[in-house]
Amino acid sequence: MFDLTLIVLARALHVMSGVAWAGATFMLASVIVPLMLRHADEGAGRWLGLAARRAGMVSAGAALLTIASGIYLFVALHPHDDSLNGHVLKIGASAALLSLAVAFLVSRPAGRKLGQLQMSAVAGESRSAQVEQERARLRRRMAISTRIAAALLGLSILAMATFRYAGAFS
Ligand code: HEM
Repeated sequence: MFDLTLIVLARALHVMSGVAWAGATFMLASVIVPLMLRHADEGAGRWLGLAARRAGMVSAGAALLTIASGIYLFVALHPHDDSLNGHVLKIGASAALLSLAVAFLVSRPAGRKLGQLQMSAVAGESRSAQVEQERARLRRRMAISTRIAAALLGLSILAMATFRYAGAFS
């Protein structure tokens, strides 16, 4: 079950999907959402919303592949790893899982609600002060949550990149 070919394939899949997950999340947090905050009212909201949706889908698919291959690698190679290396690896995995939870439970619902409000605005429905306030609140929520999700992924990448050598410093 844990033969070398499978482990090599899982590692390749893990690193590739991890790069796609983190790349899409960093793009959301550092480019798409800040532009949305600044330029949504100038008519860019609809297009940036579409870009955010696509980046969110890429990020979610890649996250699932990263986690599935990561769990396999954990069970195959580090089942009872109580060393410092193992702890650093667990911190990295937990940070990535927490990042997914933040994205799924906070950013995604805020983005969906924002999309619905955007559609009603395009359809010419009322843009009362209350609706505008709600849109601003949702945009802020998206900005903060995508930054937190990206920071957690940054921590995960640092841990994954260094865990193998952590023991050398103890
Ligand atoms: C964006 C998130 C992630 C990225 C970019 C990432 C990246 C990496 C990289 C580059 C390695 C190779 C490190 C080395 O061999 O020195 C690695 C190893 C590993 N990762 Fe991740 N990872 C991520 C998330 C996760 C998650 C969520 C889990 C578990 C649920 C996980 C479990 C593992 C395990 C067990 C290894 C060790 C494999 C081995 O010993 O050969 N990773 N990861």
